[in-house]
Amino acid sequence: MKQRSLNDWELVYHEWSPEKQPTREALLTLGNGYFATRGAVEESPAGGPHYPGTYLAGGFNRAKSEIGGKIIENEDMVNWPNWLPLSFRCEDGEWFDLAHVELLDYVLWLDLYRGVLHRRLQFRDRSDREFQLETRRIVHMDDPHSAAISWVLTPLNWSGPVEIRSAIDGDVTNSGVARYRDLNGRHLEVEETGQVGEQAIFLTARTLQSRIRMAQAVRTRVWEGDEPAAVERRTQSERNWIGQSLSLMAEQNKPIRVEKVLSLYTSRDLAISEPAFEACEDILHAADFDVLLEQHQQAWRRLWQRADLELAGEKSTYAQPVLRLHLFHLLQTASVHSTRQDVSVPARGLHGEGYRGHIFWDELFTFPYFNLRFPELTKALLLYRYQRLHWARRAAREAGYRGAMFPWQSGSDGREESQVLHLNPESGRWIPDNSHTQRHVNAAIAYNVWQYFQATGDMEFLCSHGAEMLVGIAQFLASIATYNADRERYEIRGVMGPDEFHTQYPDREELGLDNNAYTNVMAAWVLKTTDVVLKLLGEDRKAELLQLLDVSSEDLLRWQDVSKRMFIPFQPSGLISQFEGWDNLEELDWDRLREEHGDIQRLDRILEAEGRDLNRYKATKQADVLMLFYLFSPRELSDIISGLGYDFDAARIPENVRYYLDRTSHGSSLSRVVHAWVLARTDRDHSWDLFQEALVSDLDDIQGGTTSEGIHLGAMAGTVDMVQRCYTGIEMYDGVLWLDPCLPKELEGLKFCVHYRGLWLHIQLDHEIMTVSFENGRSCAARIGFDGEVYEMCSGEQKRFSLSEGETS
Ligand code: BGC
Repeated sequence: MKQRSLNDWELVYHEWSPEKQPTREALLTLGNGYFATRGAVEESPAGGPHYPGTYLAGGFNRAKSEIGGKIIENEDMVNWPNWLPLSFRCEDGEWFDLAHVELLDYVLWLDLYRGVLHRRLQFRDRSDREFQLETRRIVHMDDPHSAAISWVLTPLNWSGPVEIRSAIDGDVTNSGVARYRDLNGRHLEVEETGQVGEQAIFLTARTLQSRIRMAQAVRTRVWEGDEPAAVERRTQSERNWIGQSLSLMAEQNKPIRVEKVLSLYTSRDLAISEPAFEACEDILHAADFDVLLEQHQQAWRRLWQRADLELAGEKSTYAQPVLRLHLFHLLQTASVHSTRQDVSVPARGLHGEGYRGHIFWDELFTFPYFNLRFPELTKALLLYRYQRLHWARRAAREAGYRGAMFPWQSGSDGREESQVLHLNPESGRWIPDNSHTQRHVNAAIAYNVWQYFQATGDMEFLCSHGAEMLVGIAQFLASIATYNADRERYEIRGVMGPDEFHTQYPDREELGLDNNAYTNVMAAWVLKTTDVVLKLLGEDRKAELLQLLDVSSEDLLRWQDVSKRMFIPFQPSGLISQFEGWDNLEELDWDRLREEHGDIQRLDRILEAEGRDLNRYKATKQADVLMLFYLFSPRELSDIISGLGYDFDAARIPENVRYYLDRTSHGSSLSRVVHAWVLARTDRDHSWDLFQEALVSDLDDIQGGTTSEGIHLGAMAGTVDMVQRCYTGIEMYDGVLWLDPCLPKELEGLKFCVHYRGLWLHIQLDHEIMTVSFENGRSCAARIGFDGEVYEMCSGEQKRFSLSEGETS
């Protein structure tokens, strides 16, 4: 029998699998952008295959640990009290647990359209009593503070007394990632527990260092048919735990319906008095499960109207549902509720503790989708960076630079959160972590500001927050560039590019590499773009901003100079060199490595365990040079590179791609997305294969165990954006949305809508015809570019373009 199936809107698992449960818990996480809870079963606490995690967007805490006599500090996205616990027992038997019953039937499914997690099982206990249990769970998409569970339990061959237990468990730690378990995972203390009215209980907890408080209140009710069941209710509390048991007589074949409703508030919330006060007040007025479910489903219906992507005639049978699964998790990680929270998107979603909930350059992969669907959301997420400019300025100052230096990993206040040491599970050794020297994260933030502006035309944002970030970043990048008089060019020394396999030169003490091509080109682009933005601001605002940020006219001249004379390393063959000195590195025998080790995605760990230094070799973890072809069209890149005084032949892009692709282990989930993108027009079969791999990377957990630590949000968003922008050739510049479709042969067509500069455009295409309809919106005209022509479209208009002959009507 199949273990898993995917329908258009459903992910279904047909059996209980303790081995696969950790991955499934991440994939079946429910959330609403404010908080999320992993798809763990209600009846079991953490342990064995179970890891119920509840995470709050922006809910961080710092803790110190000792490693090898050294004290190190990490900031983690905290695992908060578990609101799921719900179980039952018969008479005085044992509490229901999947490990102690014989399963007769088990199916678990996620309804992506409605945002509901279902489970239906039949089982026999050790006393031969048989039951059917149907469970549903939601994390409310409309009311961010609410979630609910419904259980329908039917005794199939037995009648007698049953006890149901519903609890809140505050005895939780951050222990979801095996590699981090030697580090301190205790972040919480429970403050108070108590009863609210007759049917509800509450628990409040506080983080030990950041002192964020959370209150959870749950109400549990039991029905037989449509009538409230006659139950004897007892509230019990233990250390860090509070529960209610509800005893009743069960009758054979008569379903018992249990509803558990949660109300959750924190001290980070706006417009509240105090978290426990709000949670307790809320729970007293909470609606029944069915009412909550209906509101929740309506919220999801509204979301999907904006969010969906429809594929036609897709030959692989799973791209459609997997893309919807990816969209589902994107929409659960960031939603309209995030706009009130001062948060951005953690690399691993709100789905697990991998990378400690930190925010990376991965925004670069996530924001393009939001830009064209939920631009108000991108704006709020960009403001997360803006709010942390003070830290970025301090970091630049302390490192001896000017402007704003954003951290590689960001958490609560925007300081550098990259870990100092990481554990190589292959060797058991703690290794210094140098990834914080990835200064290119700054360029990613600048790029995101500019892309948001291109998609929205939001001048207010650009002139205020956007320009302040751009100028700060430009000033920083100009200040890390040093002039090399011999070359008569500027250089950036001692940094890492996106490829994390290369942290320094094999024979050099200092960290970092010189002239990482990606970083240098991005720096030149940032300086050039900031100049354009300064011109858009108008004289007064420009003068105000430059004064505020202490940028002189000499600085501006230098920026211009750097933007025209940045050094880019090339290999003797004329291909772009990842960094200076790449040529001197040794080649690896990739076939032999694959033969010896099988999975070589994490070549860094394999070689370190063998005592070899990966810095010696021409091997990349992920796209580095190739990021340039991902972010810029050949036209744009030619402009940038020729603007720097180099000859750049766009016809050689495929050669560059092939060269680096042959030397990549795809150790980051972002890698396949980028490679699929840059091959999409030149090697379409290979591109489609990589896209397929990227699609299943979390679903099939292709990194062997990392999905359980949280989904890979950047890769998920990247696959969606591949369809949205790459296959349609969407580019936005000069106030025009350009389209240049190139559908893979495996897809017959596409249908979706985009929100471009205040209006909704519906785009539908197959291999022959593309139709663009401007249905409604707040702007009066849309400017669409196709095949070198710009078309002005008014509300209600539709245009058809022949993909072989240009405009038809
Ligand atoms: C990748 C980074 C990425 C991070 C978080 C790492 O494995 O190398 O590029 O930002 O994961 O997703």
